[in-house]
Amino acid sequence: MSYANSRIPESAQQDVHEHLAARVARHLAAPFRKPFSDYNRNALDLSLAGWDGRAPLVLDAGCGVGHSTIELARRHPDHWVIGVDQSEDRLNRRKPYPAAMLPQNMVFVRADLVDYWRLLAEAGVSLARHYILYPNPWPKIGHLARRWHAHPVFPFIPMLGGALECRSNWRVYAHEFALALSLVTGRDPVCETFEAASPLTPFERKYRDSGQILFRVTIDLNPTGVARGGVA
Ligand SMILES: C[S@@+](CC[C@H](N)C(=O)[O-])C[C@H]1O[C@@H](n2cnc3c(N)ncnc32)[C@H](O)[C@@H]1O
Repeated sequence: MSYANSRIPESAQQDVHEHLAARVARHLAAPFRKPFSDYNRNALDLSLAGWDGRAPLVLDAGCGVGHSTIELARRHPDHWVIGVDQSEDRLNRRKPYPAAMLPQNMVFVRADLVDYWRLLAEAGVSLARHYILYPNPWPKIGHLARRWHAHPVFPFIPMLGGALECRSNWRVYAHEFALALSLVTGRDPVCETFEAASPLTPFERKYRDSGQILFRVTIDLNPTGVARGGVA
């Protein structure tokens, strides 16, 4: 596939999945209790080891090659920014700057978010900003349970607070994510299209350069209702 010829996920599913609301309700009624693996506990410790305990936290969940993590750390020099991905290979890929020029207020950790999100919640950690950028869409109808908003871990995501933002190039994913968020929080997220003037991630750049419409879902989960700096 050539670079600026990326395709929107193809799916027989054209709208919000008919079983999504029931799935979310089931997960809310029966909290997810899968045991944690040691590697994810270690990842949590590693991700917080360089944090001074005071700086607002940013999580780049599923950061891939980590360009967004670096950019977020540059934009928010007074925050501690954590990039998490399960793929060692992606985390180790070449960065857009030499090591000496990388921001010091960030860390990359390899972890499975299914554990990592719950471990953060269990530790009582609150995020200032939380990004889920271009998660795998799993567009087949039968793969609903693999999308984050239909996964049993989903109710733990809003527990972490902060300004949460999910981006996707699949309209259905964004609408489903927004619906699931409203069911879990009782609040109304914003679901909208946007122009990626300065793409945060390689996927975003590729989709933009392919002329695709991009979607984002945002919600302010801070207790005061006032985002610390808003979603940027
Ligand atoms: C489509 S890529 C997007 C990467 C990046 N956010 C971007 O926009 O360029 C989705 C990423 O989520 C990661 N991922 C999927 N499931 C995960 C899990 N359970 N735990 C951690 N990372 C996961 C994948 O390894 C992959 O890097």
